Amino acid sequence: MKRTLNRISLFKENQSVNCPIDNTILEATLAMNINHTHACGGQGKCSTCRVSVMQGIDNCSPRNAVEQEMAETLNFPTEIRLACQTKLKGNVSIRRMVSDKLDMDIISEQFSSDSKIALGSQQKLTIVFTDIVNYTAFAEKFPPYDIVHVLNRYYRIMNVIIQNHNGIISDVAGDGILAVFGTDKTSDNSVLDAINAIAEMKEKLNTFNDYLESNFSTTFGIRAGVHYGNVIVGPFDTGAMKKMAVIGDNVNYASRIETANKEFGTELLLSEDAYNVVKEIYPKNNEFKTSLKGKTGTYKLYELKQ
Ligand code: FES
Repeated sequence: MKRTLNRISLFKENQSVNCPIDNTILEATLAMNINHTHACGGQGKCSTCRVSVMQGIDNCSPRNAVEQEMAETLNFPTEIRLACQTKLKGNVSIRRMVSDKLDMDIISEQFSSDSKIALGSQQKLTIVFTDIVNYTAFAEKFPPYDIVHVLNRYYRIMNVIIQNHNGIISDVAGDGILAVFGTDKTSDNSVLDAINAIAEMKEKLNTFNDYLESNFSTTFGIRAGVHYGNVIVGPFDTGAMKKMAVIGDNVNYASRIETANKEFGTELLLSEDAYNVVKEIYPKNNEFKTSLKGKTGTYKLYELKQ
């Protein structure tokens, strides 16, 4: 009886191999002497055989129970599959993801990570940039110890508020916070979560300002820019530092919106994409049309009346 063969195109190797219908991807690649890492011997326990399915994901068998458990443990995006568990019903194009010891080290650390963020995925999120009004004058006036101490107090307080509204601080730089909302899918309106978080941050700043007033004779304010759009999100690990980071043009866009507050004398500006999500809740607003540094075209920004 003639056996059905599907074709696997291997991106890195720039070659194709046949895959009989009852074989896994791993069995097919090993049969052709591809150096396909498979530390647990194909038991579905190590994930080192993982491949990224670049084309033909619908031609892959559904995840079996073993692979499903691994995918949930490591929060795999749809296109990441275990080659030792995946069979084919059509042609696919794949890229092996583990090439050397460094790849193996990164993978073994993923097993101990408590990150609930998918390992590199595109998601539609709400991106928030904030900065502190009066920070520059404060930083010029006081020594480094005070600056670091005050910023740490500020970050600690704001982090709790952001988390309480289903957000994550992705990065801090000086007085700026980059936070994203919507990664854990617990809320159906991440823009509203972000707006509520900013409102509470401003409220908490009143108490914080009592501390600043009595210790440094100064007070802070908060400016924020909010955008809603696709970003690439993933846990990044330099070896010395781990963080959940978001990258992409929409992150830069949110940063530019935050900066535009200075031009318009506002404290909270939303992009049109973000505003469209909440315009029924916040029908009253100021609307601005402006260009943004580093971006072409004209953009509508909205100041919310909270
Ligand atoms: S070889 Fe270990 S999970 Fe596939």
